[in-house]
Amino acid sequence: MAVVSAKKMLLKATEGKYAVGAFNVTNIVQMKAVIEAAQGKRAPLILQTSVAPVRFLGVKVLVAAYRALAEAASVPICLHLDHCTDVTLCKAAADAGYTNIMIDASKEEFEANVRVTKAVTDYCHALGDVTVEGELGTVCGVEDQIKVTEDEAALCDPGKAEEFVRRSGIDLFAPAIGTAHGVYKTKNPKLRFDLLQEVFKVLNGAEPTVPLVIHGGTGLQDDVVRRLVACGGCKFNVSTELKHTLIDATYGYISTHRDEYNPGRLDDAVSKATIQMVERWIDVLGCAGKAG
Ligand code: 13P
Repeated sequence: MAVVSAKKMLLKATEGKYAVGAFNVTNIVQMKAVIEAAQGKRAPLILQTSVAPVRFLGVKVLVAAYRALAEAASVPICLHLDHCTDVTLCKAAADAGYTNIMIDASKEEFEANVRVTKAVTDYCHALGDVTVEGELGTVCGVEDQIKVTEDEAALCDPGKAEEFVRRSGIDLFAPAIGTAHGVYKTKNPKLRFDLLQEVFKVLNGAEPTVPLVIHGGTGLQDDVVRRLVACGGCKFNVSTELKHTLIDATYGYISTHRDEYNPGRLDDAVSKATIQMVERWIDVLGCAGKAG
């Protein structure tokens, strides 16, 4: 039985100075492939879905697939709802069996962000072991239904981090530090490592209590990822790269097998490509062998 919630897994990562990969999947083939990669590497894993797959497949289907696969797996695995702005959907996902929920009220003013986030935290905590992620500042770019323009993007105010976490009651904290969703326009995006360090010191200086989440993994250089982990990031979100891998592998396979009508082989091609890319991330994040 490897169905777990996120906080304990991530506090362990914070202590061990590695990060757990949180991979956004859109279908069951990807879900199975990501789990296979984590098992092969003996790595703890966070599976994520954004709101679009939830609306398409429904929470019950996604939770049923997750439970069947995670219960048979030998590594601990969470199921996280990513960037949900809809409180009702957050609650429905928690009710259905998502182990971790991100309520994204980061576009709201501080007080409204606290209020909306707390409503979800109170609900999830009353259910038992369902943990909640909240965001302060806004991450630039496009992630599913979330669109933040460069003008709207705002960094986390480290002076407000402790108050936000305390008053909202969240378990995991995502500070906006300059990373972005989607493909980076430059090879060297301006990231505020100092800000991440400051937030880490405020929240986890005495002892690890609030795991920190890094959004916008796709496209970051390996050394940048390692530096963000060294500064205290312990949940690392990757989404766009999985979508590109799925589409590129599908297109590549079909282009070279134009007369073949065997969906199983196409699934195999997508699965192999996904396993390879997730294994690479696991190595960079340093979480291989940390499942035990
Ligand atoms: P990317 O799509 O840039 O990998 O970002 C993923 C993410 O932060 C999901 O929350």
